[in-house]
Amino acid sequence: MARERAKLVVGNWKMHGRIEQNAPLLTEVAAGASALQDVGVGVCVPFPYLAQTQALLADSIVRWGVQDISAHAQGAYTGEVAAEMATDFGATYAIVGHSERRAYHHETPELVGAKARRALDAGVTPIVCLGETLDERECDATERVIGAQLEAVLLMLSEEQAARIVIAYEPVWAIGTGKSATAAQAQNVHAFVRSKLAEKGATIAHVPLLYGGSVKPDNAQELFGQADIDGGLIGGASLKSQDFLAICQAAQTVLQ
Ligand code: 13P
Repeated sequence: MARERAKLVVGNWKMHGRIEQNAPLLTEVAAGASALQDVGVGVCVPFPYLAQTQALLADSIVRWGVQDISAHAQGAYTGEVAAEMATDFGATYAIVGHSERRAYHHETPELVGAKARRALDAGVTPIVCLGETLDERECDATERVIGAQLEAVLLMLSEEQAARIVIAYEPVWAIGTGKSATAAQAQNVHAFVRSKLAEKGATIAHVPLLYGGSVKPDNAQELFGQADIDGGLIGGASLKSQDFLAICQAAQTVLQ
């Protein structure tokens, strides 16, 4: 049963945070998360705050990660950060292929696949983001777009590797807009993604599928209650400990 999979809620801070404001946020999230059962919690922070995050979360159940990773292991790639550098600071996750990177940094589906593979090779779990624009949704291209983004990543991975990824469905039109996908819209795409994964292998079909895009305390429970939604990737609401913890609690509630 889909409902039996544990839930996972990960914050994506994006380019937010300062060392002084991070400290109470991380401490409060660590304290609040300690009361959860069967809900994994993570935060993906800007690179410069990895050391601070590691220091403050090391003794908690909360894991941490980064928001992007180089497709290369090392070398003359000015400004890039290698997956192993993130593991030096205990990172568990690397978001790859966020729509903001695809749009503003022209990341191709192939590059996103290469980043996912690199992360796995370094022992980091890639959170692979997929999502369609409003135009694509309105011309009924959602499944074609999501299917192609997913295929480009799976092509780069062995079955064993693919079974270790996390996927986040984030419709571009729902990100930062306050206009979440409805639970039914999100569930439809998640079911589609799950069916595509199942075609690749039984173990792959069970990777966590997160929903992202304007998840808030008041809509989280309905979204997380859908059969194929295993949790969320949370932007704006992850910057406020109370909101983020309320969303984590919603994940717990649907499991009970
Ligand atoms: P918001 O929750 O701010 O809409 O952002 C979602 C997102 O992009 C998470 O990666």
